[in-house]
Amino acid sequence: MSTNDDDLQKEIIEVCLRRGIVFPTAEIYGGAAGFFEYGPIGELVRQHLINLWREHFIASEENIYEISGSLILPEKVFEASGHLSTFNDPLIQCDKCKSMFRADHLLEEKDASINFDALSIQELEEMVKKYEVTCPSCGGSLGSPREFNLMFETQIGPVSGNRGFLRPETAQNIFINFKRIAHSMRAQLPFGVAQIGKAFRNEISPRNFLVRLREFEQMEIEMFVDPDELNNHPRWDEVADYEISILTREAQKTGGTPITVTVQEALDKGLIPNQYFGYYLALETEFLLSLGVDKDSFWFRHLLESETAHYSKGNYDLEIKFPFGIVECIGNAYRTDYDLMKHAEKSNTKMHIALPDGKKVIPHVIEPSFGVTRLFYVLLLASYQKGDREWTWFKFPYSVAPYEAVVAPLMKKDGLKEAAYDFFWELKDEGIDVIYDESGQIGKRYARSDEIGVPFVLTIDYQTLEDETVTIRDRDTTKQYRIPMAETAEVIRELIFNVITFQDLEKEYAELNGKESKKGKKTEQQKSASNKKRKQKKQKGN
Ligand code: GLY
Repeated sequence: MSTNDDDLQKEIIEVCLRRGIVFPTAEIYGGAAGFFEYGPIGELVRQHLINLWREHFIASEENIYEISGSLILPEKVFEASGHLSTFNDPLIQCDKCKSMFRADHLLEEKDASINFDALSIQELEEMVKKYEVTCPSCGGSLGSPREFNLMFETQIGPVSGNRGFLRPETAQNIFINFKRIAHSMRAQLPFGVAQIGKAFRNEISPRNFLVRLREFEQMEIEMFVDPDELNNHPRWDEVADYEISILTREAQKTGGTPITVTVQEALDKGLIPNQYFGYYLALETEFLLSLGVDKDSFWFRHLLESETAHYSKGNYDLEIKFPFGIVECIGNAYRTDYDLMKHAEKSNTKMHIALPDGKKVIPHVIEPSFGVTRLFYVLLLASYQKGDREWTWFKFPYSVAPYEAVVAPLMKKDGLKEAAYDFFWELKDEGIDVIYDESGQIGKRYARSDEIGVPFVLTIDYQTLEDETVTIRDRDTTKQYRIPMAETAEVIRELIFNVITFQDLEKEYAELNGKESKKGKKTEQQKSASNKKRKQKKQKGN
């Protein structure tokens, strides 16, 4: 991407607004900072991203159960979890204009080399004086920083005193339902519980478009493991040699760069706490690569002791570097038995689980936690293309594109519109995810389709009426080939599941594309082989 920092975000926001990807919340009333809405195109991409995650992290495992819990939880839950007392950010207010800021963020703007996030309130106060930080809005002097709890509070029912909170993470629903889930599913350790859903944090200063929001979405897995078996992951052999990039604590202190190690090496060197933790670092790396994120642009940062959450004995954030800064979009925590123990104490409920030998244990928890909204933004940033055509476009992986293809009549006259519309319905009936577009010149429709990242455009033209063929245009190369209408659904499926490449169509349909056919039609045997390959790919989530 050859665009400078602010321009990149501005350009993406402009396309998002114009093409129905995301909108500001309550825009007609001036907006609401920290909130946004997915438009029709963005919502499709979001759903596809979530489906891809489900395939990669849940459907491909044997023992992960998904739940969907309440967004509002009673106060007791957060007393037990510690959020009520410790889920705070340092708030600082201008004495003059009364604007409010995050003290650590103001300091970061003065000196990016220091991690102010990790400092206590007293240390921050000293730093604000040392760096002579003043109000960025009016230049006035700032008061003393104080702790600000990030949870949104609400009243449950009409009677006062019954406090509830919008959940700041989806994880707590999983812990408080642990006993029910384990019993109802007759679950044996190890097993995981996943949840996809909204979470809320009353951020002092939302920023960076979709990065720091007050309402956002998470996909979390709590993996429950016998504490004696943390280094006995049943699928360790599949990932042990997988290479991951790690920014060690040492490197952070000395200004070093990330190192590449296999997960086995990371474990042997004591960089990661156990195999279950390493397993997820490998899977996450694979997932990011499947989204098209450049492998040299991300790493797992080992959080410093002072940054490590109150419940955790090991934290790595997946950080991705973009021209405007770093986006953290996955957190990995080894939460031990902290949460189950706390809820057991507070609720007087046993959180033990019996092992096959009858021994009872409180499981330890490995938690990979994904920000959907941040990943969605990462997807936009990583897929954004400019410079090779007159319009910008998104090179989304096929699996997350809003549609598989656009059906477009070359013109609206001479029966082309009717033929295209019938074809659109035929493809839909065949299970292809298509959209119909007849408005404006064909070139404009190609541009619109590229701008929202649709992989293929199928154009119905005058030749279609004669020989029942259409052109298929490839988003990535802008090349076009003719293919028979009757085989289009199959061709799209094969392209989407990477059974064939777009270039293969030239040979496959050589007689329609001005070349002698070398291969001729596929034999029944070839067709069945490609169906099998497609099924295998689908199972692997490609
Ligand atoms: N559950 C971890 C987090 O929300 O950051």
